[in-house]
Amino acid sequence: MPDSYADLSRFYDLVMTSGYYDYDAYAQALLDRIGTGRGLLELGVGTGLVCDRLLALGPADLRLTGIDHTDSMLVQARGRLGGRARLLREDVLDMSFPSAFDVAYSVGGVWYIVQDGEESWLSSHLMEEEDNAAALANLAAAVRPGGSLLLCVQGPHRPHERPLPGGLVYTQHVDVDSEGRYTKDYYISRQETVLAHQRLRFRLFPMKTADQLLERYGFHFQSSDGVLWQYARR
Ligand SMILES: C[S@@+](CC[C@H](N)C(=O)[O-])C[C@H]1O[C@@H](n2cnc3c(N)ncnc32)[C@H](O)[C@@H]1O
Repeated sequence: MPDSYADLSRFYDLVMTSGYYDYDAYAQALLDRIGTGRGLLELGVGTGLVCDRLLALGPADLRLTGIDHTDSMLVQARGRLGGRARLLREDVLDMSFPSAFDVAYSVGGVWYIVQDGEESWLSSHLMEEEDNAAALANLAAAVRPGGSLLLCVQGPHRPHERPLPGGLVYTQHVDVDSEGRYTKDYYISRQETVLAHQRLRFRLFPMKTADQLLERYGFHFQSSDGVLWQYARR
């Protein structure tokens, strides 16, 4: 689904920086795990909020590349980051890089981990197992052996409403089928008038299934905590 975030993109930063994610915490957790690696690939860079914090908090010699398939998100990322990161319009399903990256990571991007108490799932923007397999094959080609894949953790998809600055209201509706396919509707409204609506679909894979898939494509589970899961590229 190209351009998946087009309708939400003009409100994206407002929603995300008013309590949705703690970008400093994610950036610091990523930096704590990159070791001596400096070549980083973000999968679903969005408006560049994670790259911005990595550049602010990390070593001066970081080399950041971000891919995304939504033009209106990339336009904002380019405005935010200028020439400080390489930003490419790529879908993870089609991307093709030489095995140049030390670390690939995703913060709410193409993949992430959903944790609810003791239970965890791999959440994917790609709905079909074969698409996840194809994208992981592309990823395995992009990360050098000995490198890492880091996936951020977030809470479960739940219906939710909260105020945003400027008299706006953020609402999300959630629907799920028996196979873990989620449909999320995001609304931005002011005084009952809907200003933006975005429908997104996610698939949640039980961690055992996800780890088998990741292992098949060369990503071996290493460690996890409440912020990040780390896989080693064999
Ligand atoms: C929730 S945003 C996260 C953006 C950023 N990582 C952040 O934390 O703010 C998810 C991003 O993933 C991108 N995305 C989703 N599926 C993708 C795919 N198949 N290939 C490339 N980008 C994708 C979307 O366009 C969107 O910009």
